[in-house]
Amino acid sequence: MCPPEHFRVTYSINPWMDPSKPVDLPLAVAQWEALRDRYRSLGHTVEELEPDPDLPDMVYAANGAVVVDGKVLGARFAHPQREAEALAHRAWYAARGYTAFHEPEHVNEGEGDFAVTASWLLAGRGFRSSPLSHPEAQEFLGRPVIGLDLVDPRFYHLDTALCVLDDSGDSEVMYYPPAFSPGSRAVLAKLFPDAIIAEEQDALVLGLNSVSDGHHVLLPQAAIGLFEPLRERGYEPIPIDLSELLKGGGSVKCCTAELRG
Ligand code: ARG
Repeated sequence: MCPPEHFRVTYSINPWMDPSKPVDLPLAVAQWEALRDRYRSLGHTVEELEPDPDLPDMVYAANGAVVVDGKVLGARFAHPQREAEALAHRAWYAARGYTAFHEPEHVNEGEGDFAVTASWLLAGRGFRSSPLSHPEAQEFLGRPVIGLDLVDPRFYHLDTALCVLDDSGDSEVMYYPPAFSPGSRAVLAKLFPDAIIAEEQDALVLGLNSVSDGHHVLLPQAAIGLFEPLRERGYEPIPIDLSELLKGGGSVKCCTAELRG
């Protein structure tokens, strides 16, 4: 995770970002710290990346890489405003001894567009990550990639429209079908016939931008429609308030890069 010390909305690269809307920075920091502390109280280890004053979107740490079995697929950002973030992530992994690092040839925004299930890598395209990044990820990570087409600019990253709840066995997911093309919806229905299907009001508060450890699901507190379906499946929903970070177009998942192995 990367502290939002320098978070601000001064440019707009997704429909959530309105530079004329004020951001309460002390509140953003307090909300982010509450999320970090919640992970720790649940027994997870949280590493912090040093924020850079010139990179206001760096708080969305999920975009910096994808790690599977200790192998790191680096990011390449679609917009010049975020380009340098990839270097900060790369340096972090190098300093921590991750030697299997792949410098990407094609644009991919890390876990923003790649979701790891027990058997596959679900991969979004349409707004940010290049379709060419999909075979690149498959070749490096050795996981079959399932490409999914995003069609609604409000759900510009896969992690704004789909969340993997359990990455063991037959992975469970929750997602918002209208964010996907008809063909991709059919693929999702086939792969995950028992998925939790999100309603529009929950998707519009970025309710799917959540993190699950297989039991606890940390999700935006306004996504109340998802709480009961999660409980019915044995998960424990943990509501999180990240109202200030929503102004940049992100929530719980965007702020969290998962280190797998
Ligand atoms: N303002 C950032 C952008 O538009 C938000 C990134 C959100 N991250 C995510 N994983 N969806 O790039």
